[in-house]
Amino acid sequence: MTTDRIASYVAENAARFLDELTALVSIPSISTLPEHREDVRRAAEFLVAELQGTLGMSTVELIETAGHPLVYAEWINLPDKPTVLIYGHYDVQPVDPLELWLSPPFEPVIKGDDLFARGAVDDKGPMFATLKAIQSLIHTEGTLPVNIRLLIEGEEESGGKSVEAFVSAHAEHLRADCALVLDTAMVAKGVPTISYGLRGMAYAEIVARGAEHDLHSGVYGGIGPNPLQALAWVLADLKGRDGRINLPGLYEMMQPLSDEERAALARQSELQEKELLSAAGFREMSGESGFCVAERASARPTFEVHGIIGGFTGEGAKTVIPAEAKAKVSLRLVPGQNPAVVLALLSKRVQELTSPGITLEVRPLHVGDPVLLGLDSPVLKTAARALEQEFGHEVAFLREGGSIPVVALFDQLLKVPVVLIGFSLPDDNIHAPNEKFHIPNYYAAIRVVAGFLKRLGAKAEAE
Ligand code: BES
Ligand code: ZN
Repeated sequence: MTTDRIASYVAENAARFLDELTALVSIPSISTLPEHREDVRRAAEFLVAELQGTLGMSTVELIETAGHPLVYAEWINLPDKPTVLIYGHYDVQPVDPLELWLSPPFEPVIKGDDLFARGAVDDKGPMFATLKAIQSLIHTEGTLPVNIRLLIEGEEESGGKSVEAFVSAHAEHLRADCALVLDTAMVAKGVPTISYGLRGMAYAEIVARGAEHDLHSGVYGGIGPNPLQALAWVLADLKGRDGRINLPGLYEMMQPLSDEERAALARQSELQEKELLSAAGFREMSGESGFCVAERASARPTFEVHGIIGGFTGEGAKTVIPAEAKAKVSLRLVPGQNPAVVLALLSKRVQELTSPGITLEVRPLHVGDPVLLGLDSPVLKTAARALEQEFGHEVAFLREGGSIPVVALFDQLLKVPVVLIGFSLPDDNIHAPNEKFHIPNYYAAIRVVAGFLKRLGAKAEAE
């Protein structure tokens, strides 16, 4: 059978496939840091070269944007077959705290079955697996089973504005029968997982300002405004110890969860809790009471503080009252919650929480819409069959807590069924020090994508 040919081809080329991925993850394509601009471009150019070397690609383009470049490629040769839009991202998160990495983040190391590097699993490994699947099909069959459009962005980790503008402007040109995204998680090792939801995001900085310049805390202590303290009050007010977010109107906007879905989440919750606890080394979950872990981690909104900047943070002691302090915060959002509306609520609430001598400002950084995908599309079933063949295990359907902003556009603007197949493991340390990719999942991803595309092509033939 053809799938065996693919498996043999992947096995024969396993070392080369891994070397090529290693080269890609060596590029520090951190999209949010301006000093890595050229590195981000290098990663895009690497992919363009890779695709230009892929037999039969009719279009391969590096597309300039207001931010980082997009990589776009097409293989459109079969008028009677469906077209699949494959999306991924080649940018990565910053690496700090660097001292906690056991090996440098951009000097990939293989230990046992794992490849350690920033971006190894989020998302260079899974994204690159889609390219390797295409190449494997072309080499073994001389053709592809379906038409392909590939869209790979370099700004996903910093808001994804450019890809959204591109998709909005070229919706007609990106016409496809379904979209395939490999940028989500597996519930547990060996459990093939399809995600059916992603949370949205509203990211902002809250800036507190007091005096015109830093003050001596002996002269001004007790009378001068302290922006760090003011910020602490704001943050403490925005989310209570009970996990409730104090933004009037936020919960009212949520689309209610059906009893059926709540029950499904409850059934998965124990496994998810066990996996996530053991992967992160803490003892007890926090958050809202009255909701199971799976629901809190995917179907409830969140408010998190990502960083607080201000005052004296060097060695030793300095008795200063800073003039300014800043916090980076985000809300993860669920269907019904519009990110722009939520940012307006946040700005309003923050203003109400000011204190004497302090001015507060909320600066939006980026937004992304939440999305819930239908579970009944036939392409999901096709994907599930391909996954089950690879893993010999029933597919888990996961509502994901993370965000991939462009997916909402695929759903709502392109109106294509989106298939989110996960290959990251709970202990892969995404966004954290010592990110890794479980190498067997790399090869599994290549075989699954090839198998999925073959099945889509064969189905079109049968119809
Ligand atoms: N791969 C993740 C999304 C994800 C995270 C899926 C966790 C499954 C589990 C993606 O690269 C990501 O991290 N997205 C950002 C988007 C944000 C910056 C708008 C995120 O979720 O923080
Ligand atoms: Zn990420």
